[in-house]
Amino acid sequence: MNRIMAIVFLAILLAGCRQDRVTDQMKENRVIKDVKAVVVSAHPQASHAGVMILKKGGNAVDAAVATGFALAVCYPAAGNIGGGGFMLIRTSTGDHDLIDFREKAPQAASKDMYLDAGRNVVTGLSTDTHLAAGVPGSVDGMIRIHAKYGRLDFREIIQPSVDLAANGFILTREQASSLNRLAEMFRQKNPDGCAFVKEGQWEQGDTLCQPELSAALERIRDYGREGFYAGLTARLIVDEMKRGNGIITADDLENYSSVFRKPLSSTYRGYDIVTCPPPSAGGIILLQLLGMLEPFSPGEMKFHSPEMIHLIAEAQRRAFADRAKYAGDDDFIEMPVREMLNGNYLKERMASFDPLAATPSSAIEAGDPVNFESQETTHYSVVDEEGNAVAVTTTLNGSYGSGIVVKGAGFLLNNEMDDFSVKPGFPNMYGLTGSLANAIEPEKRMLSSMTPVIVEKEGKLFLVAGSPGGSTIPTSVFQVIINLIDYNMDPRVAVDTGRFHHQWLPDRISIERNSVTAESAGRLQKMGHVLHEVSGLGRVNAVFALQNGLLEGVADKRGDNSASGY
Ligand code: GLY
Repeated sequence: MNRIMAIVFLAILLAGCRQDRVTDQMKENRVIKDVKAVVVSAHPQASHAGVMILKKGGNAVDAAVATGFALAVCYPAAGNIGGGGFMLIRTSTGDHDLIDFREKAPQAASKDMYLDAGRNVVTGLSTDTHLAAGVPGSVDGMIRIHAKYGRLDFREIIQPSVDLAANGFILTREQASSLNRLAEMFRQKNPDGCAFVKEGQWEQGDTLCQPELSAALERIRDYGREGFYAGLTARLIVDEMKRGNGIITADDLENYSSVFRKPLSSTYRGYDIVTCPPPSAGGIILLQLLGMLEPFSPGEMKFHSPEMIHLIAEAQRRAFADRAKYAGDDDFIEMPVREMLNGNYLKERMASFDPLAATPSSAIEAGDPVNFESQETTHYSVVDEEGNAVAVTTTLNGSYGSGIVVKGAGFLLNNEMDDFSVKPGFPNMYGLTGSLANAIEPEKRMLSSMTPVIVEKEGKLFLVAGSPGGSTIPTSVFQVIINLIDYNMDPRVAVDTGRFHHQWLPDRISIERNSVTAESAGRLQKMGHVLHEVSGLGRVNAVFALQNGLLEGVADKRGDNSASGY
């Protein structure tokens, strides 16, 4: 497809066309059904880049790596080469694997680095400055996972992103308005200019070119890992650190390594749930919620009735209380993961559940699992024709990370250090508190909520999913799973329907606008719940295995998400 045709085609997609568009046997839309292979991501051009790799004979890992680099170009709010994440894999033979490419604290980081002399947290230091950046992991992760599972040449996989950065991508309406809203922030943090700022206002349909990012991607294409963690890009990162009193050194970059880990798994009503282990707490929360819910029958309660929301919010409250106390990087701390997921422990956690009244969070402490012998990210899901499935969640932490672009290299620095507990009990940008388990230490990974998940039924693929949304990630993923399993919903409805979230502290239920009736809200308040209306929770991008052996890709209606497949 030449460039003009591609622009016309994408303009149609971005204009909100709701019919499947079929080109060369390809379908592209928010929801596509009856396909053999599919990529669902936060941006149409990234999903398209992934599917083109599948059409060239690549497998799901090749497509996931291509989509990841494309998101670094066309979804800069969260797609990245300066951040980190987790990739969960299920091979067509049913084996599971996970690569953790979460950022690490630099060697010069220390427990109290965001506190002043009076031990008060200095506002903005862990979110808005060069000190907020963890050592990036995405490039190492993509290269290692490709080396283990990829089929096509790495250069072929990254080249579309090199071109997309050089030639530009088309801004969606949401992207244009967020860049306009943040223009002053970008100007202040990047006094020498950056690709995200222009004279005048951005408009939907504008082309945003990133020549410096294209050159940085070219160096990764040509030199692999060394093209980012050494040489010119590493020098540019270290120079950027020096300009802004950051602490990432050439040694930090050289020493960074992603890690292959065993995924966490459990069952729920006969389904096998495979998800992310620490240093994300997301998988633990998801499995705790499912375990706490299993003895109950939510499917017999009316969907979004006060009884159903109350039951689930109480389970969420208890899971997040455990997270605050126990969760951290278990390469550094002893985390009682097995005990936190023990069925008897989870039953005991719900023993104090009162079906008629909210239990105040002040009355809920973390449990004691050991004596019973845990806003902005992006998720994409890929399944290929052979049945290999990949779920990837990746982030810069805040929207556009720290907002600081590495001068000369064109990519954003993450502000992931804020995911550490900067001071016990002090809430991070998602309102999450933590303990010493998640205290800062050199080379430790900060706790995450990312929850890529793969669900199977009788050994066969059922669902691939995940979501952005900080603390709301595991509760969004959880609700899609119970919508499918307990409420037997159609995949599209399971993703689109309203969501709610409780995270222990603050002690309130966040509920998406218009997802409960005024009467239900009133009854929840009478039970003692505080309700907090929000515009959106999570953006789940999912693939469902259909009964006919084909796939359905469902991109969340909350955003510019898009599915491409054939
Ligand atoms: N930075 C958000 C998360 O990892 O949960």
